[in-house]
Parts: sequence; C-alpha cells; structure tokens
Amino acid sequence: MRLTRHIPLLFAISSSLGYELLREYAGTNFFNGWDWFGSWDNLTLGDVNWLSEADAMAQNLAYINSAGNAIIKVDNTTNVPLNEKRNTVRITTTDFYSVGTLWLISLRHIPFGCSVWPAFWSKGTLWPNDGEIDIIEAINLMDHNQMALHTTAGCTHESIGNNFQKGNNIDTNCGTGSGCTVAETEPDSFAEGFADNGGGVWATQFDVSGIFIWFWPRPSVPSSITQLSSTQTSLDISTWGPPSASYPSGPSCNITNFFTPQQLVLDITLCGDWAGTQSAYTNSACGKQGPTGICYNDAVVGSGANYANAYFEIEWLRTFTNNPSDLPSSSPTTDSGVAIPTGATSESSSQGGSPVVVVTSTVVAGANPSGDPITGNGVKGQIGNGCLGHGRLGGRMLRMLSIVVVYIP
Ligand SMILES: *[C@@H]1O[C@H](CO)[C@@H](O)[C@H](O)[C@H]1NC(C)=O
Ligand SMILES: *[C@@H]1O[C@H](CO)[C@@H](O)[C@H](O)[C@H]1NC(C)=O
Ligand SMILES: *[C@@H]1O[C@H](CO)[C@@H](O)[C@H](O)[C@H]1NC(C)=O
Repeated sequence: MRLTRHIPLLFAISSSLGYELLREYAGTNFFNGWDWFGSWDNLTLGDVNWLSEADAMAQNLAYINSAGNAIIKVDNTTNVPLNEKRNTVRITTTDFYSVGTLWLISLRHIPFGCSVWPAFWSKGTLWPNDGEIDIIEAINLMDHNQMALHTTAGCTHESIGNNFQKGNNIDTNCGTGSGCTVAETEPDSFAEGFADNGGGVWATQFDVSGIFIWFWPRPSVPSSITQLSSTQTSLDISTWGPPSASYPSGPSCNITNFFTPQQLVLDITLCGDWAGTQSAYTNSACGKQGPTGICYNDAVVGSGANYANAYFEIEWLRTFTNNPSDLPSSSPTTDSGVAIPTGATSESSSQGGSPVVVVTSTVVAGANPSGDPITGNGVKGQIGNGCLGHGRLGGRMLRMLSIVVVYIP
C-alpha cells in the first residue's frame, strides 16, 4: 500500500530527467533575491562604482522596461570628470546553487562596446578555492562569447571525445589567471549580432558528472525551453545535443572537489584588468579611436554617450534542480532561500517505515571515433593566444537516470 503512493513520483522524475523549476527571477520579481555590491570595482579594478540597490534604482541603472524585461546598465548620461568612476551594477544571488542544479538565462541584449566588460557567472564563497564558472564573458569589440572555469591549481580541462563540445579550447588549465577558456562557435553569441538576432539562451548544468554550458541564438532555442511556463516547469535536456563547453568530471579534474555551492552574478565593469589592458584595449581597434589610447581616459571620462549599448536586457533567469527534496513544498517559483546539499542526488520519503527512493544520475560517454578534430582558428579578441582544441576519441554525453526503490521496514 505504501509503495503505490510513491509510484507517481517515480514517473514524474523519469519523464523529466529530474529537472524541476526551483526559482524564477523575472518581470517585476526579477530583482528579488540579490545582493548589490555597493562599492567601487576592487575585484577586476574596473573604473566603475557598483551601486547599492537604492542608488541603482534611483539613477535608473536597474529597472523593468515596458516589455517586462529587467535592465541593468552603465550610466550613459552623466559627465564623469577625470579621476572619478562611472556608475553601474553588480548583483549576486542570495541563494547558493549546489551540484544537481541547472541554470537557464534568456537575454535580449548584452552590454558591448569599447571598454565594456559584462559577465554572467557564478562563484563559491571563497575565491578561487570554491570555484568560478564564467558563462557569459567578453570585452570591447569581441564578436563572440567565451566560457571558462577558474579553480585552485590541479584542475585541467578534460576532453572526452571529439564531439564533447562545440566550442574551441583556448586554455585548458583551470588554475591559471585566465582559467580554462572555451570560445563559442555558435553564431551571434555577443555584441550587435546577438542583439539583432533577438538575443538567446544559455544553460549551465552543474552536476556530479561535470559542468556543461549550452548556448542557443534565439532562432535555435529548443522547444524544451520555449515551452516552459508557469504550469510547464519540468525541463527535459535529453535533446540538447553537445554543449558549447563541456567540463566532464574525471581524473584531470574532479569537479566536486573544486566547486562548492555557487551564487550567480551579473555585472558590468569598464576597462579593468582584462578590457583595459594594453593588449586588449590600447593595441586593439578601441585604442585607435581615442586621443590617448588609454581605456579610462578615452572611454570612461566624459559624457558617456558611447555607452548606449552597455546594458543587459534579461527576459528571465530560472534555476532548476534534479533533487526533488530541494523543492519548496508550495509553488516552485517562490523564494527557496536554501543551499542545496552538494553531492549525488537523492530523495528519501520517510514517513515511518516507508520506501526510500534513490535517484542517481551518471554520464555515459559513447564512442564515436569518426569525427573531425576540433581546430581552434579564427578566435579574435582574446587575451593570450594558442587555440589548441583537442579531440581524438569522439563521444557524446548521454545522461542515465537510475531509480532504485529500497523498502525499509
Ligand atoms: C572590496 O570592497 C568590499 C566592500 O567595501 C569589501 O568587502 C571587500 O573586502 C573588498 N575586496 C577586496 C579584494 O579588497
Ligand atoms: C570525485 O570525488 C568524489 C568524492 O571525493 C567521488 O565520490 C567521485 O567518484 C569522484 N569522481 C570522479 C569522476 O572521479
Ligand atoms: C543611453 O542608453 C540608452 C539605452 O540604454 C539609450 O536609449 C539612450 O539614448 C542613451 N542616452 C544617451 C544620452 O546616449
């Protein structure tokens, strides 16, 4: 008798591959559940003040537009005098997202232009000890996105098979300054191309089997994502194909040893220790536009008219979990405020001697030795050279979900 009660749960889990909506940041609720930095950029040394929530709202640098989308932007109307910084925004989720969660973001516009350095990324409590996942990050006149992991020493980007990711590896050591970086190869992942195309969607799977990042330009967003709604909250990722960047857990990097629960961050800085460097700015087409070739002098100081494109327009950010016990008991879209336990997913329904349902997910890499090697040519605008894509064995990620019912008398 007790067993039959739990059977619908088993079907619900297996039909959705385990992912259920945990929290949605969207529309007038978008700005609930974030910390605002409220200080100058002392992290990447950009020439900006990241405002408090009250100041950002009052200065119209964070608001919901008429389409119902969230805007986060650089101040483009204030005349900034020499030696002062320009105002912008950096927000961090108060929730921490553990192994077993998946994060989707739908954007219409990403900040771009000379000196502009936007990012959507995640971090653990301590940097770099608890790991960093860069999902969207590009600078200046780059025309494509770059993804990366940052860890302590000892984690290198494992390549399982030639079809394991669509992007091109730039750097495979996750413990270096630039991290283990992958250049996006899907079209229209940044700048005008992204905006003109209606934007797009990124998915990040933070899993015991590794970290996997997908990007779809708007016309290619899969129906499993476009169908999501307030009533359709289960996500089936089985038809997504190879990610843009795959960081499988394995001997060269056990992901769960380098990443603790992550907070999601959206920020925009200007210049700083990537976009403002001599190699990235002064020696690029940006440097030739201004009188001095120095990022701060030529771009940040002055009217700000050059920052009309320095804004994020966010349709929604949704987080999912494959651990049903993490779901709030009422609506999945209400505040959860929980750190989901790290480790293998498991659910136990223990109402006095009842069955225990154990859900485990594993990745199986299928052999596919016939593909072409990934080449790393034509990557523009990155710091450092050497696009060294490797892929010898072929293979595609397959997710297997096993459900075991154990009866505890
Ligand atoms: C940056 O500034 C914030 C706010 O003042 C402070 O809490 C933090 O410790 C600073 N970080 C560094 C690396 O200086
Ligand atoms: C990673 O480490 C955890 C715990 O230390 C272990 O359970 C897991 O099997 C390891 N994964 C891989 C791919 O080696
Ligand atoms: C500032 O940027 C917004 C877009 O975020 C644009 O609509 C507006 O025209 C810009 N203002 C100026 C003065 O450039």
